[in-house]
Amino acid sequence: MADAEGNIDAKNYGIGVETNNEGFFLKGSGNLDWGVKARLSRIFNPKSGNTVMLAFDHGYIMGPTSGLERMDLSIVPLIEYADCIMCTRGSLRSVVPPTCNKPVALRFSAGSTILTELNNECLAGIEDAIKLDASALAPMVAIGDPNFEALTIKNLAKCVDYTAQYGIPTLGVTAVGKNLVRDARYLGLATRVCAENGATFVKTYYCEEGFEKVVAGCPVPIVIAGGKKLPEKDALELAYKAISSGARGVDMGRNIFQSENPVAMIKAVKAVVHEGMKPDEAFELYRSEVNK
Ligand code: R5P
Repeated sequence: MADAEGNIDAKNYGIGVETNNEGFFLKGSGNLDWGVKARLSRIFNPKSGNTVMLAFDHGYIMGPTSGLERMDLSIVPLIEYADCIMCTRGSLRSVVPPTCNKPVALRFSAGSTILTELNNECLAGIEDAIKLDASALAPMVAIGDPNFEALTIKNLAKCVDYTAQYGIPTLGVTAVGKNLVRDARYLGLATRVCAENGATFVKTYYCEEGFEKVVAGCPVPIVIAGGKKLPEKDALELAYKAISSGARGVDMGRNIFQSENPVAMIKAVKAVVHEGMKPDEAFELYRSEVNK
């Protein structure tokens, strides 16, 4: 208990020194609650404003995906290089060491697999996400899916309610169905719908034509998925083009963990995302890491 008498007089009031009224570093996030901003600041590096999220949630629809057969062997050694990890609660509990001290974007919706009909999903429980110390909730949002668009937007809306209630950001994950095209028109619509429904940030895909319009039309930060495995240099170019067009990071899986040298690849991706390293130079960095 504080003493009532004999205390040193308070005198360091900094009279004449302005208080720091700086805004928040992420687009569209200035009016969010302290807890949401604090978690976003763990996911996104406040210096660069960007993030390298390592995604390894693929098994929840695809089973033992190439590169993820033994996540204890392939993924755990990569975690130290990521700014954030994106995974299911199953892999978190069974494989990821709780000592890794990385923010978790928790895959928060599930319900069907590639064997049946994708996107027929429900949400996991918020209490478990809190117990797991999730820094973001990540539901799939299937805009344009004739069967599950409404269901997945409802899932997103529920997550946004949780964001308001518990201060955990919502990452809207735009799905790409068999009949949906990855062009600026579609991606612009899908990301905007996620943001309008309250997503704190949105994950989508890069497109060659008009990606800067997708970013401009989305009032919250966008991160891009890597998609199917590309040659390393092409994947670095993809990341560079996305960041140059305004994306605030990558949420990348296969192009890292299916690389010939995943550690070298994640280091090169980080250089692109945080330092704006050009693709040629980043590929050189990749090669020099491989030859170490
Ligand atoms: C897709 O929704 C999956 O959940 C992955 O997290 C996402 O596609 C990123 O992984 P990749 O870079 O392999 O596409």
